[in-house]
Amino acid sequence: MDVLSISKNRYTTKAYDPTKRIPQEQFERLLQILRLAPSSINIQPWHYFIADNDAAKQRIAKSLVGKYAYNAPKVLDSSHTILFCTKADITEQHLDKILNQDDVNGRFKDEQTKQDQKNGRAGYVDYYRNEKGDVQRWAENQTFIALGQILLAAGIEGIDATPIGGFNEDIISEELKLAEQGLIPSVLLTLGYRSENDFNAKLPKSRLVKEDIFTKL
Ligand SMILES: Cc1cc2nc3c(=O)[nH]c(=O)nc-3n(C[C@H](O)[C@H](O)[C@H](O)COP(=O)(O)O)c2cc1C
Repeated sequence: MDVLSISKNRYTTKAYDPTKRIPQEQFERLLQILRLAPSSINIQPWHYFIADNDAAKQRIAKSLVGKYAYNAPKVLDSSHTILFCTKADITEQHLDKILNQDDVNGRFKDEQTKQDQKNGRAGYVDYYRNEKGDVQRWAENQTFIALGQILLAAGIEGIDATPIGGFNEDIISEELKLAEQGLIPSVLLTLGYRSENDFNAKLPKSRLVKEDIFTKL
């Protein structure tokens, strides 16, 4: 498989064929990509809401009104839509959960190694919270790594996709009671298959030239 060709050919789908559905087994593979995404100190600060039926997509589309209305058909005509959320804060409870999962997965040879991992993580979280002063921004950066991974994976799987940052955060937060769950909404992702009418499928890709973005030291 030529990953560069995948990168050149994947694109942001602007209109979906509502009659086509991603096979469940293939969708589950994409969810595994999200689960396996790397994150700083393996903090995994994300949670995903999955809409694979009309009622669920309608709930998401409530946040696609006003200046975001142009994104609503993408959600409604998609096969699956995923709302990427990020933990609003990194709690002790979350740190314990990750540590225990590391333990269950056999990462520690003894109690000391486990303690070292616990202290190391706490140190980083303190640094981002107190010295850098924005633990939420750091956490959300990790969620966007997962977005990047699934966008490429979808291309490899032959599935069309649209990352959507244009949605009303307050409406989606209220609809899904995100604050009560300690979450903030980060980004939407629609998945499915392009419509024949998708103007964007026919447009050439546009990127800055390499001289603008790379500096050889
Ligand atoms: C975080 C993020 C948010 C985006 N939000 C939207 C959006 O709300 N609506 C939309 O149509 N495209 C959205 N896009 C798609 C970008 O416009 C697109 O990725 C960019 O123009 C590059 O084009 P390509 O993906 O076709 O290569 C978003 C992309 C990213 C990464």
